[in-house]
This record gives sequence, C-alpha cells and structure tokens, in this order.
Amino acid sequence: MKKNQKIAVLFVCLGNICRSPAAEGTFQHRVDKKGFSHLFQIDSAGTGAYHVGESPHLEIRKAAQKFGIQLVHNARQFVSTDFRKFDCILAMDRSNQRDILRLAQTDADRAKVLLFRRFDPESPDGQNPPDVPDPYYEGGFDGVQEIMMRTTEVLLDWLLEPQAG
Ligand code: 4NP
Repeated sequence: MKKNQKIAVLFVCLGNICRSPAAEGTFQHRVDKKGFSHLFQIDSAGTGAYHVGESPHLEIRKAAQKFGIQLVHNARQFVSTDFRKFDCILAMDRSNQRDILRLAQTDADRAKVLLFRRFDPESPDGQNPPDVPDPYYEGGFDGVQEIMMRTTEVLLDWLLEPQAG
C-alpha cells in the first residue's frame, strides 16, 4: 500500500449490472462497517458497453438487501486509463480477465489484474479459482451474493496486509 494514499480497487464483469456492482457494494459495506472508508476508493465497471448508465439489476439488489447492503451504481465500461487509477483490478471471470488484459500496456498493468475468486475461502484450488457464475443461468442471484459475502472478507484482509498493493 502506498503511503498516505487510498487503495483503489476496481471490480469488473461483463455488463456491470450484476456481479461487479454486487462485489463493489459488498466490499464497500464491509469497509464502511470496519471503519476503513478513508483507506479505500472502490468502483466497478463492465468490459462491455451494453448496459452503460443502468442501475444494478433488481434481482441482485434484492439479494444484497437481504444482508442490509444497498447496491447503488451507474454502469460504465472499463477503459484503459483505469490501469492508471486503480491498484487492484478484480475480474469476475476468465473472459473478463482476458478482455481487461487486452487493454494492458505494461507488466505493471497486467500484475494488477486478479481473478476475484482467488480470495474465495471455498474455492477448492486457490491457484485455479472458479469464475463467478452468471447469476441468470448458473449461479442464481442469492448464490452470487453469497460468493460476494465470503470473498470480499478475505480480499479485505489481504489488501490490508502490509505487503499487498
Ligand atoms: P454481469 O451480467 O456481467 O454480471 O453484469 C451481465 C448482464 C448483462 C449482460 C451480460 C452479463 N448482457 O450481455 O446484457
């Protein structure tokens, strides 16, 4: 972590209306509850432009609300300048990761991009973490929110370790 500077964390999925705003809102909630808001800048984006300007999907908002978490975000597309603005870029799945890496220009850019579920304590293999499933077809909205709950907890601990960032 750079001295006297916030840790800037960006969550990225495809549409920026389900998985990444859920990760963003859940991580922000956790940070706020711990009194660490001053330490972090948190945002999310999508690799696609299909839903730019939209709010998070109603079903994922309902799933997050069950944990007292309000998802408030306007969807935006990931852009190459995000590499300059963020310290840690968390891809929800491998396809997102590939699309993000296509815009990377330096090794330092590439090193910022991590798969979100490498921090999931229930990932069977930390070296080869699963993707966050698409909530429509696979994961279900409550299932995806459960992933957000447990994974952001471990992510926050990792980012607060002195050697991280
Ligand atoms: P997300 O889900 O990537 O978790 O926001 C999606 C939402 C919409 C689309 C794709 C993924 N879409 O193609 O419209």
